[in-house]
Amino acid sequence: MAVVEPRLGDRTLFATLDAAVYANHAGMSPLSSPVAGAITDAVAALARRGGGAGWELLGAREPVRAAAAALVGAAAAEVGFVPNTTAGVRAAAFGLPWEPGSRVVCFAGEFPTNVTPWQRAAAAHGGEVVLLEVRDYAEQPVRALEALERVLAAGRVLAVAVSAVQFQSGLRMPLAAIAERCRAHGAWLCVDAIQACGVVPIDVVADGIDILACGGHKWLGGSMGLGFWVVREHVARALRPAVAGWTSHEDAADFLLRGPGHLRYDRPIRARADFVEDGGFALALLPGLGAALGILHTLGVDAIFEHVQRWIDVLEPQLVDRGFTSLRAQAAAGRSGILGLLPAAGVDVIALHGALERRGIACATPDGVLRFAPHWANHVDEIPVLLAALDASIAER
Ligand SMILES: Cc1ncc(COP(=O)(O)O)c(C=O)c1O
Repeated sequence: MAVVEPRLGDRTLFATLDAAVYANHAGMSPLSSPVAGAITDAVAALARRGGGAGWELLGAREPVRAAAAALVGAAAAEVGFVPNTTAGVRAAAFGLPWEPGSRVVCFAGEFPTNVTPWQRAAAAHGGEVVLLEVRDYAEQPVRALEALERVLAAGRVLAVAVSAVQFQSGLRMPLAAIAERCRAHGAWLCVDAIQACGVVPIDVVADGIDILACGGHKWLGGSMGLGFWVVREHVARALRPAVAGWTSHEDAADFLLRGPGHLRYDRPIRARADFVEDGGFALALLPGLGAALGILHTLGVDAIFEHVQRWIDVLEPQLVDRGFTSLRAQAAAGRSGILGLLPAAGVDVIALHGALERRGIACATPDGVLRFAPHWANHVDEIPVLLAALDASIAER
């Protein structure tokens, strides 16, 4: 069968997708046929050959690691695979060199993935989470950075934990500006990048990111259950690998492969991002993530970002005309793949969402915000279909 190349605005690789308009990539992306096919092939190999296929699949981690690294400007050795964003954030939170009284800055209004592990780590170590307001970055960004500066200057801040893109408003955070302040005060910048990687250009070097975590099932176009994290080399040396398991050791599998005398418990834990690959691995999902990253690299994240902006540029004013309030940033630097809107007066957003879903429009309503999140395969020709469904849904109240 001829290989179909991915093309912006072309749904050919989603031939079995039910929705007329799928605009929920900030929730979960549908699997494209190359991704689904790669996972299906891996499952078939495991069914046929069991552990023989398992070892081969494990060996195939390296090119996928390199592809993940290239997406965010990291070195392959700085990337480790995690089941989800939370696992990366948790390994970061518990890996910090806490002392009693240490503090971490988090943001109220963030998705809880990027708060809960920090709270648990602070509680375990007699530390503290300082909560700043994420909405200040939309409303008064200069003052928001000044408030951060004040907390950092007060001392004992180990890390600032922030999402690259806010899950409701879609606000892209000024990571480089935050990083500059972190560096000045010796704090690490830990970034939940699941709403950015694959749709918004992000670069750990240019953005000054020390640790980044990203699940696979949103803008990467992979499957839930396999994502990656990045630990910059200078951080990996200082991080305490508090979250580790049997495959976190150097030469962890020697006792399985090299005969007697290799069963030991004292081998060092790898001082690299991949120490979080700590036990059984999501083997069948790995080729899917590889295929998903291949698509992103073929299309290019800069081109995907521009494509998605054009789609949102067409939809946004039409919704504003209908009384919705757009939360999208005015400046391009604050924009992402998410168009979040407060509902028009009298519109019950949950009922509207249900009605849209029945009409084949996939979107989401995180904490009452109506959220559209198109990706590379969406086309502006879908927008009249979406608006007709929206008008019919509102009219049926
Ligand atoms: C900003 C953000 N972080 C994290 C997650 C999910 O985290 P995980 O991959 O651990 O499920 C989401 C959405 O589900 C999100 O919007």
